[in-house]
Amino acid sequence: MNNHIAIKKVIKPFDKIIEVSGDKSISIRSVLLASQAIGKSKIYNLLESEDVINSLKAIKQLGINYKKFKKFYEINGFGLNGYNTNKNITIDAGNSGTLARLILGLLVNSKKQIKLIGDKSLSKRDFLRVTTPLQKFGVNIVTKKNSLPVKIVGSEFLRPIKYKEKLGSAQCKSSVMLAAIKTPGKTTIEAKKSRDHTELLFKYLKIPIKILKTKNYDIIKIVGPSNFNGFEYKIPGDISSSSFFIVLTLLAKNSKIKIKNVNVNNSRIGIIKILNKMNAKIILVNKKNYRGELLADIVVKSENNLKGINCPENLNSSAIDEFLVIFLVAARARGISTFRNLSELNKKESPRLEMAIKFLKMIGVRFTRQKNNLKIYGNPKLNLNGKYTVSNFRKDHRIFMMSCVAALSLGGTWKILDKDSVNTSFPDFIKLIRYLGGKIY
Ligand code: S3P
Repeated sequence: MNNHIAIKKVIKPFDKIIEVSGDKSISIRSVLLASQAIGKSKIYNLLESEDVINSLKAIKQLGINYKKFKKFYEINGFGLNGYNTNKNITIDAGNSGTLARLILGLLVNSKKQIKLIGDKSLSKRDFLRVTTPLQKFGVNIVTKKNSLPVKIVGSEFLRPIKYKEKLGSAQCKSSVMLAAIKTPGKTTIEAKKSRDHTELLFKYLKIPIKILKTKNYDIIKIVGPSNFNGFEYKIPGDISSSSFFIVLTLLAKNSKIKIKNVNVNNSRIGIIKILNKMNAKIILVNKKNYRGELLADIVVKSENNLKGINCPENLNSSAIDEFLVIFLVAARARGISTFRNLSELNKKESPRLEMAIKFLKMIGVRFTRQKNNLKIYGNPKLNLNGKYTVSNFRKDHRIFMMSCVAALSLGGTWKILDKDSVNTSFPDFIKLIRYLGGKIY
C-alpha cells in the first residue's frame, strides 16, 4: 500500500481559523475514569484516534459498555470494582504509552491475570518505571526485560504507598494515582512537576486529593478507596496537535492562524513560553476555565526575527512532546539555542533525540550534542532545496508531522513515509494542512 506522501513546495501565505481535535491525554484519562465511575458518563469531542480507540476497546474487554452517539460517547461504569476480571485476558494497548501505563494502575484489584501487550514501538519502551511502584501496593506484576508484555494479578489486600516520581512523567504519576483510589488508606506521591490533568479530573470528580505545590515537586495525597459518579466532559483541543500549526505559521511567510478552544493548562504550554522567548509573539485570547483546565484560542503570526534560546530545564516537562518542532524553530533562529537534559525524549514512541539529530544532519543544520544536551546553531536564511526522504522512524506520529512542517516551511523536495502514523494522535492532520493551502501528494 502506498503509505508515503510527497511535498514539493513551501506553503503559500495563509490567514485562517482552525480547530484541532481533542486532547489525547484528557481523552484517554476520561475514558478510563468513566469506566470506573458509578453510572453513565458522557464524553463530548473525544479524540477518535487509535490510542483512544484502543482505550475504548480495553475497557470493553474488561466488561464496560460504551456507545457512540452523534456528539458524544456514553460509557457505563459500575464503580471501582466494576471490571470483569474473572478470566485471564490480554489487552493490546497498541502504540499508546498513556493507555498502557495508566490502565495498569486500574488493574491492581484484578482477580485473574491480565496480560498487557503493545505494538513494536510500545514493546521497546520502559515499563519498570510503573511496575516498580505498583508492586509496592502488593500486586503481582512482572515485565519481560523491563518492558512489555507485562503480566498483572491484582490483590484484595492493597496497601497504600509512599512514592517519589523523579522523571517528571505524568504517566507514572497517574498510574500510581489511579491505583491509589482503589487502595484503602493514604497514598503519598512526591512527583516532579508534569502535566496535571489527572489531578484536575480527581478534583472535579470529588475524589479525595490534596496537593502541596513546591518549586519542582508536587506532593499529592490521595485517600482511598474512593468511588465517584458518572460525569460529563467536553474534551478541549490538544496543544500538542496545535504545536505543528503554531510552528508552521511561525516559519511560513506572512501568515496568521487562530487555533480555537485549546487546552492551555500551564503544565502543557512550555512550547508557547519557549517560542515567545525566541521572539515569537504567540498570544492567548478568550481564556476560560473549564473543570479546572484553562482553555483559550491561540493566535500566531509569522516571525522573521527569531532568536536562539538558552532553554530553561524546568520547561522540559511542559514541552516534552513539542521539542521536535521547537528544534525546527531553533534551526531558523539567529544565534545558538541550547537545550539540556533531554533524556526523556529518547523514551518516547521513537528515540526522539536520536531521530532529531539524524533529521538535523539530513537537512544540514549545524549542532553539537553532549549526552542529553543539544546545541543548535541557527540560521535565519535557512532555505532547503535538496531532496529528502524521511523513513525508519518507528512510525512515530510526531516525527511524521514535524517532517511535514519542515517541508512546508523550509523548502526542498520531500518523501515522507508512514503517513498512517498520524492516526495514533491526529487523524485530521493532513486535512487541516490542506485547508491552510499546503500541497501534500
Ligand atoms: C502523557 C505524558 C507524557 C507525554 C505523553 C502523554 C500523558 O509522557 O509524552 O505523550 O498523557 O500522561 P511521560 O509521562 O512518559 O513523560
